[in-house]
Amino acid sequence: MPQHTDTVGGVAAADTTTTAARPGASGASAVGSPQAALAAHGLRLEVLPTPVRPADGSDPKAADFPAQALFTRAVEKGFYEKVPDGRAMDQSLGMDADDAKRSLGVYADGDDPAAREPVGTFVDWASTLTVSPGIELPAWLISNVTVSPGHRRRGILRAMMGRSLTDAVAAGMPVAALTVSESAIYGRFGFGVCCHARRAQVRTTGHVQMRGPAATGTVTREDPREVIDQVDALQRELQLLTPGSPRRPQTHRVMWKDALASENDGKGEGSFVGLYRDAEGRARGAVVYRFKGWETEPATVRVQAFMAADPEAWRGLVRYLLDLDLIERVEFARLPDDGALEAVLENARLVTVTDHWDDLYLRILDVPACLEGRAYVSGVAGGLTLAVSDRHGFADGTWRLTVAEGRGQVERLADGAQEQADLALDVAELSGLWLGGVSAVTGVRAGTVRERTPGAAVLLDTLLSSAAPVHLLTGF
Ligand SMILES: CC(C)(COP(=O)(O)OP(=O)(O)OC[C@H]1O[C@@H](n2cnc3c(N)ncnc32)[C@H](O)[C@@H]1OP(=O)(O)O)[C@@H](O)C(=O)NCCC(=O)NCCS
Repeated sequence: MPQHTDTVGGVAAADTTTTAARPGASGASAVGSPQAALAAHGLRLEVLPTPVRPADGSDPKAADFPAQALFTRAVEKGFYEKVPDGRAMDQSLGMDADDAKRSLGVYADGDDPAAREPVGTFVDWASTLTVSPGIELPAWLISNVTVSPGHRRRGILRAMMGRSLTDAVAAGMPVAALTVSESAIYGRFGFGVCCHARRAQVRTTGHVQMRGPAATGTVTREDPREVIDQVDALQRELQLLTPGSPRRPQTHRVMWKDALASENDGKGEGSFVGLYRDAEGRARGAVVYRFKGWETEPATVRVQAFMAADPEAWRGLVRYLLDLDLIERVEFARLPDDGALEAVLENARLVTVTDHWDDLYLRILDVPACLEGRAYVSGVAGGLTLAVSDRHGFADGTWRLTVAEGRGQVERLADGAQEQADLALDVAELSGLWLGGVSAVTGVRAGTVRERTPGAAVLLDTLLSSAAPVHLLTGF
């Protein structure tokens, strides 16, 4: 199940098929009722109550939440994972409770959710997303989308997504977010990729030279169970500084603490924390890492989480990892796509990028709330008109964006104004561009952004440029 991995993620997206467009949005499509489409296949969609922890704070018991436990089993099977049982299932329900996750299940008519697994699963919940350093907006997170093999291509995904996005709009959510296992599905539903990520490894045999001054702080190896609160506080600090990062789900705290219930119950996965303290002794960064075992050659540690609140902490932690005794290779499970690792090494070719992927997908539901809700780099100013097409209506329209003194203002122009727009694009492209992690100029080259006023794409990239790399710190 994705919740048990470093990258925690995976969702597919679907048509909203909704009539509940935001007031003022034109052209809301009403392409039929997803419920009716399900009914035609003898199916129905149900929202399960979120599990709750008992008053003593212990995990909920699967026996008290049979429908949610069966739902979790279906999710695990959908990702070809082992099905949790006993304490592991209770723990999973407890993490769902902590994040107030909502489960949407699709069931065969007549099936009791407390007795049968759903044939479709979908999880959503209200969270927050950093959109500029220090600024968060409410965000609707989506995960754990699966459809059982015997029920594909009957509109189950479409129905679940339609219900979810309709509810997100009703709750006033400006944006929805997901990560994907397959990327071909999401654009049609208005999701666009806003940042990429990569996995990389560094050969650390011998002394690896770093460029620039040595960090003045120190790093100590710690037991994750003893320093989890410091790690968590650092993660929150960094998350607030990182556009493209939602509040971390509870799963990550449990993983970093090495307390995920597993087959070798109680022993954990053998994670360590390297904790960076600055010259004044303040914790400013942490890495969570695990040795891959003596059977792996060359001897390797895998860095599951890397959090540094300032550049010195980042440098100090890189140095620490490069210097680990007996270790010949360091793997970084998830890095921003910014090349910082190559930049800090004297020999950049020690870095091998082993994977590179489209990471966070966003779906703008409220154009003014999104464009006015983020900050703009000070000194950048200008105005542009954007003709945005959204077949589901939420973002459809012609919008004038004016940026000055670090703030954006959005005005909706009258119907017909799209002819005068500087740029024309689908909501999926606007959603990807919004935080400044991908380029409108690239979109023009690819033909996904139409430039009607020469230079408009460069101007949009300038206006939307981000003060910090757009990066998803923790999958969900
Ligand atoms: C991907 C998955 C959720 C699709 O569910 P589904 O109920 O079959 O999808 P729907 O019938 O609602 O299809 C909705 C639309 O998406 C398209 N679509 C669905 N799966 C697709 C895929 N894998 N690739 C491309 N398009 C896809 C459908 O063709 C349909 O398109 P349309 O708008 O032209 O009609 C399902 O196949 C699944 O569970 N796969 C395994 C787990 C997984 O991959 N989960 C997603 C993790 S990212």
